[in-house]
Amino acid sequence: MIQAGMGVRVGNANLASATTNAGAYGAISCVGLGDDFDRTFREYETVSKRNLAKEIRMAKELTKGNGPLGVNIMVVLTNYEDMVRVSIEEGIDFIISGAGLPLRLPEYANENVPLIPVVSSGRALELILRTWERRYNRKPAAVIVEGPLCGGHLAFNDEQLREPEKYSLEVLFKDVKAVLGQHDLMHVPVIGAGAVSIPEDVLTVIEMGYNGVQIGTRFICTTESGMSEEGKQLYVSSSSQDTVIISSPVGMPVRVIKSPLVERVMSGKKEQFACPYKCLKTCDRSKVLFCIARALIHAWAGNMDEGLFMTGYDLDRVNDVIPVKKFFDDLEVSAANYHSQIPAYQG
Ligand SMILES: Cc1cc2nc3c(=O)[nH]c(=O)nc-3n(C[C@H](O)[C@H](O)[C@H](O)COP(=O)(O)O)c2cc1C
Repeated sequence: MIQAGMGVRVGNANLASATTNAGAYGAISCVGLGDDFDRTFREYETVSKRNLAKEIRMAKELTKGNGPLGVNIMVVLTNYEDMVRVSIEEGIDFIISGAGLPLRLPEYANENVPLIPVVSSGRALELILRTWERRYNRKPAAVIVEGPLCGGHLAFNDEQLREPEKYSLEVLFKDVKAVLGQHDLMHVPVIGAGAVSIPEDVLTVIEMGYNGVQIGTRFICTTESGMSEEGKQLYVSSSSQDTVIISSPVGMPVRVIKSPLVERVMSGKKEQFACPYKCLKTCDRSKVLFCIARALIHAWAGNMDEGLFMTGYDLDRVNDVIPVKKFFDDLEVSAANYHSQIPAYQG
């Protein structure tokens, strides 16, 4: 099980180390680490590098150097290359990269660090595999498949999102496996993500054929996550009916909880904002209605009027804030029950 490296500052050293200490794969998000909005672009780059190194060191201290500890780096970041290089310098155990096609990732990560691309179709995976093989002779260590019910940015268009069942994790699994087969990579682990909220969901995804899961939204509502307490309570008290998909400055659809900011954006009103450090390659400041970096930092800080709360669809079963360890204890019980239902092998 991989804990999603959620930006901004939700998937921090604290959450990642708690996950790793529970026996799974913790991941630190590399987005929005530039402190505040008074910085120039150059300061933002330097501060982001310093803060990422600090986060990784802190997580290593909390796990006593026992990994696996990873990072999640969005392709659309203007400081993408920096974030990859700092992660490697700090001895990270794996790199997850999505929100765009990580075609050049092996160029910056020219060491032995395992690389894990995030995809939502066999077509995207095909492009990545072909490019990595041809240009870098590199293969993925695993592949994460994000379905349409996921939190964060969605690699589906509006039409596809109206028919999520057509792109369910079952459907995507076959699509992705077919591509892996064509590249002689059937052994590469495939990890499913989207609406995995309770231990039983983990088992359901494994039954589909996946080798593991990546979990986001459930882990926002953990004691250890970086989200503000006010924000955690919003997730806990909201249901899937309170979610809506809006167009993000990243250039992809994003699922969020309805909030005062979201209401304003949906009415077409442009927010006042400066753009001192141009954090996204894909964002055109003159066209977008709000600054997503600013809105996510407000969410992290607990400013409910200005904050943007990205979420997966399945809020109905996220009803409390739990310590990370409780999730894994419950998972162990579910797995034991599941296995006890399978008749013993009789030789
Ligand atoms: C608040 C939030 C922030 C996220 N940030 C990122 C990110 O920075 N990079 C990324 O690749 N995915 C990000 N995601 C997507 C997750 O990595 C994950 O795949 C997804 O949340 C899984 O679906 P679930 O939330 O239903 O469990 C984010 C998701 C949420 C809810």
